[in-house]
Amino acid sequence: MTCIRSEIIGHGHYLPAKTLTNDDMAKMVETSDEWITERTGIKSRHVAAEGEYTSDLAFHAAEMAMKNAGISAEDLDLIIIGTITPDNTFPSVAAKLAARLGVRHGTPALDISAACSGFVYSLTIADNMIRLGQIKTALVIGAETLSRVTDWTDRNTCVLFGDGAGAVVIQAKEGKGDSSDTGVLSTKLFADGTQYENLMATGGVSTTQTAGYVFMNGKEVFKSAIGCLTQAAEVVAEQAGIRVSDIDWLLPHQANIRIIEGVGKKLELPEEKVIVTIDHQANTSAASIPLALSECLESGRIRKGDLVILNSMGAGFTWGGALVRI
Ligand code: UT7
Repeated sequence: MTCIRSEIIGHGHYLPAKTLTNDDMAKMVETSDEWITERTGIKSRHVAAEGEYTSDLAFHAAEMAMKNAGISAEDLDLIIIGTITPDNTFPSVAAKLAARLGVRHGTPALDISAACSGFVYSLTIADNMIRLGQIKTALVIGAETLSRVTDWTDRNTCVLFGDGAGAVVIQAKEGKGDSSDTGVLSTKLFADGTQYENLMATGGVSTTQTAGYVFMNGKEVFKSAIGCLTQAAEVVAEQAGIRVSDIDWLLPHQANIRIIEGVGKKLELPEEKVIVTIDHQANTSAASIPLALSECLESGRIRKGDLVILNSMGAGFTWGGALVRI
């Protein structure tokens, strides 16, 4: 039986030029390279320049992805961006980006607010629209300027986050309907709003009329993260009828090396199959998965035909996964 699959035909990423090392952080708050490295795996993070916005980061990643895919703005039927750090409260970053890219008049554009799961949520929505035959080609992005909602005096959070953007172009392609197909093979999304206050911004439009800063009950998030990420990976594999041990790569959300390693262990995957980019990117929320994916595709580490599980977990709580054959 044939079916429509969403194939990844292009990838792109962008990191702002400015970096802050752990030693730089130690000049700002009471911390050390040793503590940050040991507890999180982070060595440095990128920070957007003054006047450089989420839409700018998204634009650079999008340009690279579209060039890589060999498509023009005219070919796009959807722009969807996972972000919790939009340029303006409204309209969406996607609408701003659509105009800058010069996409066709009327092409739908939207942002998805699912924090660190924003890219997996966006990919799932775009994949479903493709499989329903509503669209053929989508630009799916994760882009964040978390530095703008970081309290740079709070050592509990400021060492953890970074700015960046990653993008993929996905396009409808006929498949056989089994796990040998290329493209998105299965997806699954979850949320649990009872955990709302464990990871949140301290402000918002309707409450304080300010964006607020990141607040995290780190221990509680940590406790849930390994279980949620493991569940997402297991479910997407099961839905596609494959064993987790059959995948080539696990590409988890980059929040903490101890979480990443914990998930790898629970899934009984060898270390070499688990992608880690947190050392030079820190936690870039919705951008972390597409950034890492694009870097690995660009370097040739992840190759055509490889089977990859993308899984994420973040504020909401939200979590989810996607199984993709490149
Ligand atoms: O992206 C969404 C998902 N996010 C996550 O998954 C993050 C989940 N949480 C975590 O990754 C970890 O909980 C953190 C990295 C945030 C914190 O690590 P931890 O091992 O849970 O540390 P802790 O919060 O228990 O703090 C241990 C100690 C505390 O000192 P006391 O109270 O024991 O004296 C903290 O004040 O470490 C202290 N501490 C620091 N020390 C040096 C906290 N932050 C720092 C710091 N430098 N930057």
